[in-house]
Amino acid sequence: MPKSASAESAHHPTNADFIVVSNRLPVDRVSTEEADAGWRRSPGGLVTALAPVMAAREGAWVGWHGAPDEELAPFHHDNMDLIPVTLSEDEVELYYEGFSNSTLWPLYHDVIATPEFHRTWWDSYQLVNRRFAEAAAHAAAPKATVWVQDYQLQLVPQYLRRLRPDLRIGFFNHIPFPSPEIFAQMPWRKAILEGLLGADLLGFQRPNDTANFLRSARRFLGAGVKAKQVHVKDNDEQITHIARAEPFPISIDVAQIQELAQRPDIIARAQQIREDLGNPKTILLGVDRLDYTKGITHRLKAYAELLEDGTVKVEDAALIQVASPSRERVETYKQLREEVEGIVGRINGQHDTIQNTAIRYLHHSYPVEEMVALYLAADVMLVTALRDGMNLVAKEYVAARLDNSGALVLSEFTGAADQLKQALLINPHDIDGLKATIARAINLPPQEASRRMRAMRRQILSHDVQRWSEDFLTTLAEKAIRDDS
Ligand code: G6P
Repeated sequence: MPKSASAESAHHPTNADFIVVSNRLPVDRVSTEEADAGWRRSPGGLVTALAPVMAAREGAWVGWHGAPDEELAPFHHDNMDLIPVTLSEDEVELYYEGFSNSTLWPLYHDVIATPEFHRTWWDSYQLVNRRFAEAAAHAAAPKATVWVQDYQLQLVPQYLRRLRPDLRIGFFNHIPFPSPEIFAQMPWRKAILEGLLGADLLGFQRPNDTANFLRSARRFLGAGVKAKQVHVKDNDEQITHIARAEPFPISIDVAQIQELAQRPDIIARAQQIREDLGNPKTILLGVDRLDYTKGITHRLKAYAELLEDGTVKVEDAALIQVASPSRERVETYKQLREEVEGIVGRINGQHDTIQNTAIRYLHHSYPVEEMVALYLAADVMLVTALRDGMNLVAKEYVAARLDNSGALVLSEFTGAADQLKQALLINPHDIDGLKATIARAINLPPQEASRRMRAMRRQILSHDVQRWSEDFLTTLAEKAIRDDS
């Protein structure tokens, strides 16, 4: 047995009734200096929502464990069967950093960065998608449900259906689906649509993403689309199945965030953060993966101008910007890091005093406990994404604000803006508008802040990630019953 799986019990699931397939397995490796100590569940709502379903239904999770060129046997961890898929060093470069994150990611986020189209990347994407499909097909019990996640695996539904026509296949796209005008650039647009249409049910974040997908299916495949249903045909023009597309906006583990927000040590930590910053009147907070879709430079520009024109004084306010490292070998991400760190340096150089720092920039990832302490410490949360499938940070901030205080400045280009309508909505490209809204958020009358936060909390509390997964899986199961009858 491979050394790194030895701490867990080895297990070869071939009869799973419920399978999740995602690019990454929901575990991170924990290693001490001496040894590989095993695995820890990764933070994040998806695994929290699906772990109970896994435990109840003989579940298995198929995914990459994050290290290139390492073959791991399936293992059991945290009540889940985990089935690692191996990616070679080359595949990490071509399939993951290349096609997934330098072609699809920029294309699906409205070409904020220029997508690159390379045939070698596409070849690798097909090959790796096939490997994921084979792993799922091998592990699935007859008539099992398989739920495929996200843009890295858009061909899996079709490959899987060919291998195992008995399965119920769901797909959920966590990122936006672009308009047909933009999707048109994709040289392999037909193959991708056909790949996705292998699913019985396709979930998207926003109604708009759903409409974009259906319009693309009609335009590029000539597919018959009626009432969100696509009649999928084989090469002989025979209808094989009906694929349905619907919005299912994802959410967060509300209970966890609320529980942490009440813990005395976390409340004390929030106090400590404020004190360490010199107890400024206002703390503003940004929390993002360091990604060009997040509008970090727009946010910094607006903040710098507020300092320059004297609307905000460095002794009264502090901006904490957490930028967690992401996709660091991809060129656009390297460039963004240089750019952001250059801007932060210039702003701090100009506005810092011996006592006060304008921007506390943190290029780290933090555990959820520290994140909740930051949410509690922050008077104003800044979410300025240029395009974002959902943005869960906005939802976490709202869930943490148990006393209904605090202001959320939220980009209208996030999926979250559909649900958090009482946020202070902004267009991040409109720097004057963004500045005015940040200033408004800093001075928001407590009554108005509370009215807005209360309404947003009502929405979040009744729509957590458990409800999201139940909605999706129930819709998929009901559709299967209808299709069978
Ligand atoms: C986004 C994507 C996920 C992805 C995550 C982190 O949220 O929708 O599929 O896992 O970013 O990116 P990474 O490339 O590190 O997996």
